[in-house]
Amino acid sequence: MADRPGWTGTPGGTWHYVLGDGAVVGPRDVPPTEVIVAFEPDAKFTRRGKLGDWQAAMEPVVAGQTLPVFVLCLALAPPLLTLAPPDFGNQLCEIAGPSGHGKSTLAFLAASVWAGDPARETLGAESWLTTLEAIERQMAVHADALLVLDEANKAGSSRKTQRELIEKAIFRLSGTEGKARHGTGVEVSGARLLTISTSNEPLAQLLKVTPAVMEALQARMVTFEVSWEGPLRAFDRVPHGFASERKAVEALLRAIATYYGTPGRAMVVRLVQERAADEPKLRRRIPQFIAHFYKLTGAGDLAGSAGRAAKLFALAYAAGRLAREWGILPEAWGMISKLVPRLYALWRSAVGGAAGAAQLLRAHLDPTRERWIDAASVKSPLKLEDFRATAGILVREETGSVLLVPSPMLRSGLPGCLEVMRALRDAGVVEGEEGQQRKLTRKAPRRLVDGPERVYRIRLDRLDELLESGG
Ligand SMILES: Nc1ncnc2c1ncn2[C@@H]1O[C@H](COP(=O)(O)OP(=O)(O)OP(=O)(O)O)[C@@H](O)[C@H]1O
Ligand SMILES: [Mg+2]
Repeated sequence: MADRPGWTGTPGGTWHYVLGDGAVVGPRDVPPTEVIVAFEPDAKFTRRGKLGDWQAAMEPVVAGQTLPVFVLCLALAPPLLTLAPPDFGNQLCEIAGPSGHGKSTLAFLAASVWAGDPARETLGAESWLTTLEAIERQMAVHADALLVLDEANKAGSSRKTQRELIEKAIFRLSGTEGKARHGTGVEVSGARLLTISTSNEPLAQLLKVTPAVMEALQARMVTFEVSWEGPLRAFDRVPHGFASERKAVEALLRAIATYYGTPGRAMVVRLVQERAADEPKLRRRIPQFIAHFYKLTGAGDLAGSAGRAAKLFALAYAAGRLAREWGILPEAWGMISKLVPRLYALWRSAVGGAAGAAQLLRAHLDPTRERWIDAASVKSPLKLEDFRATAGILVREETGSVLLVPSPMLRSGLPGCLEVMRALRDAGVVEGEEGQQRKLTRKAPRRLVDGPERVYRIRLDRLDELLESGG
């Protein structure tokens, strides 16, 4: 019996997944067991079109775009929560920024993975214009799936009630322990889900809370602040074939209103099969992807609230990789192992400042250490290709060690390279060319390199200091 959507079954037995419209997905080779659906199906979860239609409609706008692809990875992640290591739990992701930046459109895009309905103003999403009780009900309706809450600026009837609702809601949405609500009969017990919220002002700014509560909130929530100036924008660039970003956003909105509900279903169809065939194997694969994400970004070493927040990226990464493997997020949309780390880098250098950037650079440099060469061993200038085959030249100066890294290598290897290096230049770790136009790189010294190569000059001593100071 399923009293709400999501996974239903018994440990060691067969697991089914019940979609929000009451459709039951069971393993193919198992004789049908009867699952009684004991909740009111929600029509917004009725899918429209085929998976291929959804993919073809989204592709022109989302292919290769960092934030759009990320929200789709995140949208596919909630059914993994119950299979992931126990330290992975409910979390929120918010997109904040000025009006007309495509925040709601991105949130609706994510919602379209599970739901839609052109007759609803918020399509597959829900509105913040609601009560705490209603949000708890929505948690059950979106169990093991994605809940999207649009327009936090509409929450509450006054600034005070708005703050109260949002603060309580964040803690509720990021917890899995529920309670039976007498009178309403609503049971939110154990609902696992991820939430995407949109607002103009970041929720943390909107709330007036003590630093301790703020720290707790930030562990539960990842905030992306989009702006025209960047570094974080709703779209990296105007999608191919559109006259403007605005046209692309409007086309996306039409696409979302036409096709929806199929990717989430495809994800659970596959997960149900894999879980039935070999659940331990599936449970091993998820932490493997998580570990890979940590290796790419160094996020595994983050302490405190930032470390917990980083789990949202790690889980989205795991879901994105599986969805890629299973043909749900097409290859043409870009490499998950580039896009998710890139967004993480943008977020990390936005919230963690130079220390966040230092961590990313360190995670990138450490595995290349064996391919550094010592400047003292360079008797005559290296040919360009020989220099590029190294991971950098280590120069010991009186003030400390400096690493010269070929710039094309770092650009292609380090997620969010430009933003990371910019933050580190301001912190005195990266020394670019001074002059009228400050640059991040400088010319490679002729003594070492025979050719017009540009390098990043990285002060390793200052990098270490910055990492030790924490930030
Ligand atoms: N990135 C963008 N570039 C240009 N125009 C955009 C962009 N994003 C949105 N728009 C325009 O703004 C309209 C509203 O988009 P959307 O609802 O997603 O914005 P929003 O960021 O949620 O705004 P608000 O803060 O007012 O809710 C779109 O239909 C489009 O015309
Ligand atoms: Mg909006």
